[in-house]
Amino acid sequence: MGDPKNFEIPGHMSLSMGEGGLPKVVVETVWSRAEIYPHGAHVTGFQKKDEPPLLFMSAASEFTDGKPIRGGVPVIFPWFGGREGFPAHGFARITAWELKETTLLPDGAVRLRFILSGAEGFQVEYLVTVAESLTLELGVGNTGTRDAAFETCLHTYFQISGIDAISITGLAGTRYQDKVAGTTETETAAAIRISSEVDRVYFATTATTEIEDPGFGRKIRIAKSGSNSTVVWNPWIDKSKWMPDFGDDEYRQMVCVESGNVAQNQTTLPPRGHAVMKVEISSERLLS
Ligand code: BG6
Repeated sequence: MGDPKNFEIPGHMSLSMGEGGLPKVVVETVWSRAEIYPHGAHVTGFQKKDEPPLLFMSAASEFTDGKPIRGGVPVIFPWFGGREGFPAHGFARITAWELKETTLLPDGAVRLRFILSGAEGFQVEYLVTVAESLTLELGVGNTGTRDAAFETCLHTYFQISGIDAISITGLAGTRYQDKVAGTTETETAAAIRISSEVDRVYFATTATTEIEDPGFGRKIRIAKSGSNSTVVWNPWIDKSKWMPDFGDDEYRQMVCVESGNVAQNQTTLPPRGHAVMKVEISSERLLS
């Protein structure tokens, strides 16, 4: 990671020892506070002043070399899901990224730039901008001599007041793969509610989604570009018990609404081609 001192911005960005002895970046702005681990270029926290955290982190998460962090925003690349003999959801989330640059922008936002080394045939860059909202930009370039296909996903875990309280809008009319039922469906609900295990990949959608959470009196907005898939996931009771790095009851406090390009929406780039996926996460108070 080079000399950490080169990256600190007094009053705005500092490097320290995080969980499990892994290095951690803490960012402070007038609007918000964020924590990012170079391990996985993983945003583990984003909280606006006077609001509950936007991102959920499991109390049972591991913070270990070679293992993913459970919660926050895992960066999924170059494949989504399982792959025989290889790590689930790709190697980006279990690799230490290199912090290349930190910038205090004129409006007071703080931007971090990470690169993923060792992604053979690809140049992968990740920009994390902390302000009143959290903006994440994953850029992938094909440095090889042939077309290259890959999947990406920002597997975002949101902190909610309770799984019974929330609803998700923006996906009505969208085709999706229901990975629990093993079927393909079209979303009929204007506002999706969750009352059992949900694992759905919505295809060909660039729509902004919103999580309405009356319990916290807020609405979370996920706006994106360069992303054609949205994944909605909640493990519910049995899977929560089965996952070693997730608390048995934590499924009640989180929902994943993920922005990516997966399965039939995977990206194929020609040599020297470049693609960027950008996700802006913001929140507003609900009128009571
Ligand atoms: C979701 C997948 O995105 O991630 C689920 O759709 C998967 O199938 C979940 O269970 C969590 O994956 P992991 O590897 O972090 O346990």
